[in-house]
Amino acid sequence: MIVDFCGTHLLSITQFQTLADLQPIFDTANEMEIYARRERVTRILQGAVMASLFFEPSTRTRISFEAAFSLLGGSVTSTTGFSFSSMAKGESIYDTSRVISGYVDLMVIRHPEVGSVKCFAQASCVPVINAGDGPGEHPTQALLDLYTMMKERNCTLEGLNGISIAMVGDLKNGRTIHSLVQLLALFKQIRFHFVSPPELTIPISLLALLQARGHDTIITESLTQGIHNVDFIYMTRIQEERFNSQEDYLRYRGSYSINLDIFTRYCKPNTFILHPLPRDSRPGSNEIDTDLNNHQQLAIFRQTDNGIPIRMALFALTLGVTKYIHQDSQPVHWAYHLHR
Ligand code: NCD
Repeated sequence: MIVDFCGTHLLSITQFQTLADLQPIFDTANEMEIYARRERVTRILQGAVMASLFFEPSTRTRISFEAAFSLLGGSVTSTTGFSFSSMAKGESIYDTSRVISGYVDLMVIRHPEVGSVKCFAQASCVPVINAGDGPGEHPTQALLDLYTMMKERNCTLEGLNGISIAMVGDLKNGRTIHSLVQLLALFKQIRFHFVSPPELTIPISLLALLQARGHDTIITESLTQGIHNVDFIYMTRIQEERFNSQEDYLRYRGSYSINLDIFTRYCKPNTFILHPLPRDSRPGSNEIDTDLNNHQQLAIFRQTDNGIPIRMALFALTLGVTKYIHQDSQPVHWAYHLHR
């Protein structure tokens, strides 16, 4: 089944069943690259309004969604946290969603409870995009992660068949992990190395999915074993906000940290390092040491940049305007090249 994006919600990676379902997203993202880099301007979303509702902390996800929508000529209205929304007065998800969907053309939502964004979607008259539902899913992050993997290896979607990836950190609570695993499950013969403390291991349902699809899975506590001989390392933050107590969290804080020395000693030189960010840079955490900042194989900032073309593509597909992308495009007159 080929997914028809126009007018649909994007809530979960389970909406995609084959690589062919994904191809339009990456084709459209490629078309958006010149606009993401500000080499030209296109105003395909002129007159459209997006609401971004972020009930959990966010930097890059919210800003990149909002920037992508604005860059396409649309306007953005947003609310952050519970205290400044009517949810603080006891308003239900249903009412909030129904009301806001009457004002806008698309909603992007992050909320601390698994399944909550789906509840917003059920009450909404306009498409809803899940920007993270607690420890549930983060589908747009997984799409930009996959786009990054293709770009870093300079390959097509099919070119990722057979790769190996070490996923490191809080695999139990990390929603980016949950979405990316389900996305990679659509490929053939991926080798997954899941590196975590036993209590934070990958959910059994995801492991069963991978095994049923014939992928290789290795579970280990050892970072140096896990990152050996893989094509990608996907580091994650221990999800402090998901633990019942600070004491619980502190047990795992700093479990895994990679630096230049470890990378050079244990990884293939062409291994790419990814991270959805934020990396926890406080002393005692440090998933990725700053001594790797200028390393060519550290793809984390190229990965965050990719959030713009991917989110532009999702907007264009969801609002049904892909055929107009280049039609009225114009040159840029400001000095974009000075800072890029
Ligand atoms: C992640 C998230 O919020 O799930 N960040 C992001 O959206 N890029 C990862 C995290 O917070 O650790």
